[in-house]
Amino acid sequence: MSTPTKMLLKRKPQHRFPLIPLSIIFILALPLCFYYYSLRPDSLIPVSPKTYDSQSHQCNNQALGKKFLWYAPHSGFSNQLSEFKKAILIAGILNRTLIVPPILDHHAIVLGSCPKFRVVDPKDIRLSVWDHAIELIQGGRYISIAEIIDISSLVSSSLIRLIDLRDFVSIWCGINLNMVCSHNSKLQSSFSSSLKQCGSLLAGLHGSLNKCVYAVDEDCRTTVWTYQSSDEDMMLDSFQPDEQLKKKKKLLYVRRRKDVHKNLGPGSEADSASLLAFGSLFTAPYKGSQLYVDIRESSRDQKFQSLMKKIKFLPFIPEIMSLGKKFVHETIKDPFLCAQLRLLDGQFKNHHKATFQGLKQKLESLRQEGPLPINIFIMTDLSRDNWTETYLGDLVRDSVHYKVSFLREDDELVIKAAKSLMAAGYWQKLVPNLKNNVGKMYCSTRRLPEVLLFIEQVVCSCASLGFVGTAGSTIAENIELMRKYGSSSCLG
Ligand SMILES: *[C@@H]1O[C@H](CO)[C@@H](O)[C@H](O)[C@H]1NC(C)=O
Ligand SMILES: *[C@@H]1O[C@H](CO)[C@@H](O)[C@H](O)[C@H]1NC(C)=O
Repeated sequence: MSTPTKMLLKRKPQHRFPLIPLSIIFILALPLCFYYYSLRPDSLIPVSPKTYDSQSHQCNNQALGKKFLWYAPHSGFSNQLSEFKKAILIAGILNRTLIVPPILDHHAIVLGSCPKFRVVDPKDIRLSVWDHAIELIQGGRYISIAEIIDISSLVSSSLIRLIDLRDFVSIWCGINLNMVCSHNSKLQSSFSSSLKQCGSLLAGLHGSLNKCVYAVDEDCRTTVWTYQSSDEDMMLDSFQPDEQLKKKKKLLYVRRRKDVHKNLGPGSEADSASLLAFGSLFTAPYKGSQLYVDIRESSRDQKFQSLMKKIKFLPFIPEIMSLGKKFVHETIKDPFLCAQLRLLDGQFKNHHKATFQGLKQKLESLRQEGPLPINIFIMTDLSRDNWTETYLGDLVRDSVHYKVSFLREDDELVIKAAKSLMAAGYWQKLVPNLKNNVGKMYCSTRRLPEVLLFIEQVVCSCASLGFVGTAGSTIAENIELMRKYGSSSCLG
């Protein structure tokens, strides 16, 4: 954030009076900033902490009266997808336009551990997501999650309104995001300060601002969000930090179950804010409760019911689905078994034996049923060059019993899928909520997105001999979901 300051400090030993230039720069810079921003009619960007705290400060006129919701996705793709689904539900409940985020690099942003009460604060994770999103735009690598996941049924149902993060930022902060890629250094420096201001505003870095931003500070250490649940609002959740943890870590946390509509909906302080900013929306069942979001079916709200039904299964975009199926029918040739083996990341690298065991058992039973060889499709994070010493190497060598197939990032089919995804321009098809010059390309040089993981999931969803996944992997969970709700689309 403070690169110029850092550079000065680094050079400190060479300067005799390092503090003088610093303070002079600071004093000189402040009025200049005020001047600059007061010149810009479309600016909602306050500069000093003073203007930030000012109660009179409000959003860009265009943003007033419009209500948006954003959140900070993180970790791997499957986690980002499940957070996206939670965000859709909450945006539907609160009747806010959901800001659709990009797909973040695998584990570029991490949350920490909810059960251990050790997580990144909501405002910090929001800021990391912001910084990462800008990096993606700069690198020509920005892919919206709506370019991978088919949300057309949601959009056409008008159950929810959506806007691309880049469109939102352009309108709400009144900045031209194409400037991110400008090579004009003069323009760059003033732009980058507006960009920074926009980021801190979105992240709620300085807390909530009247009518403009409401920054949700609650996270999984204090809150489980519910909706129309039979529980009383603000009731204690069944999962609390135990005495040992409280003592050891000096924790003061108490987890309460809060109704998202009562606390953040009409009549609440949050309701008047144009932007409602959550941190992580990650949740998972834990010790008989949910870690952060426990929103279940409720019969009282029809719109919410339909939304709940729709998000149970959101398929990949047709381009990815069709190339996955093409590989199934033309290359593997049905019937086949799919094995998804996570062997490298985090917790998974210590469980190779258990991970292979499930596959071994399944293959033994298939061998008894015949016919041979058995078609197996493997998706794994272990590079093909490293299979030899593992059970996978054994399978490849035993060509009498097994015929092994797999996909790589540089396979023609995978590259073709990435190209057709780019050509389809799905993010531009998000319903334009605001009449403006949205839907432009933001920094046009774009690299081909990585789509291998998505095609592999489609292939596995179509494996008619069965699916063996890695225990605890969210990818495996997503494939199971696809097999349950979407496998009928594998035929033909
Ligand atoms: C939801 O928001 C839209 C757009 O702001 C508004 O027109 C509509 O009346 C709202 N619906 C409800 C039920 O409040
Ligand atoms: C894979 O093999 C390469 C050399 O062939 C080696 O450097 C690397 O550490 C191996 N990776 C794993 C995860 O075993």
